Amino acid sequence: MTPAVAVHLAVAADASDIAAMSRELIEHGLPWTWRPQRVARAIAAVDTNVVVVREEGVLSAFGIMEYLDDDAYLVLFAVRRSRQRLGIGSAVLRWLEAAAVAAGACRIRVDARRDNVAARSFYNEHGYHEVRITARRYSGQVDQIRLEKWLRARPR
Ligand SMILES: CC(C)(COP(=O)(O)OP(=O)(O)OC[C@H]1O[C@@H](n2cnc3c(N)ncnc32)[C@H](O)[C@@H]1OP(=O)(O)O)[C@@H](O)C(=O)NCCC(=O)NCCS
Repeated sequence: MTPAVAVHLAVAADASDIAAMSRELIEHGLPWTWRPQRVARAIAAVDTNVVVVREEGVLSAFGIMEYLDDDAYLVLFAVRRSRQRLGIGSAVLRWLEAAAVAAGACRIRVDARRDNVAARSFYNEHGYHEVRITARRYSGQVDQIRLEKWLRARPR
């Protein structure tokens, strides 16, 4: 059953936990680039939404979305391993998609590791199409797949 989760805008105090989860679930085997300071800058940035789900004080999920012209870019996104397959990722994604629509974005783009079956299935389930594979995109080792979802037609 999907737990009732509340999605909140992140505050500076969330930066360390987000960075740690990125290192464990997203950047594993690669250089750790999303360290606390970088996350804190994203939290403070006006063109970026950083959101979190906390359950009993523990970080369960987070998402970082940047806005660039007509596009929104889902930069980082993860759900704690023990809380996956409960609908929490879907709740966070729906929140970010609603924010992107409100911001007037035409499209959301997201990149994932090509071998990340969970992420590809998750984004496919939410209407994202796979558009491009870039070989050895991450640290010259890991293939990347680009996905995108159109929210509305691009203005002429
Ligand atoms: C991808 C991820 C965010 C999904 O979060 P989640 O909270 O587990 O997703 P949900 O429970 O909302 O899943 C919704 C649907 O997505 C699909 N899905 C999610 N995880 C899946 C998996 N491991 N395998 C296959 N399909 C999956 C399913 O269709 C699922 O519906 P179902 O559970 O009813 O079958 C999570 O697995 C994760 O954090 N992975 C590690 C970090 C990562 O890869 N981030 C994304 C790249 S930046």
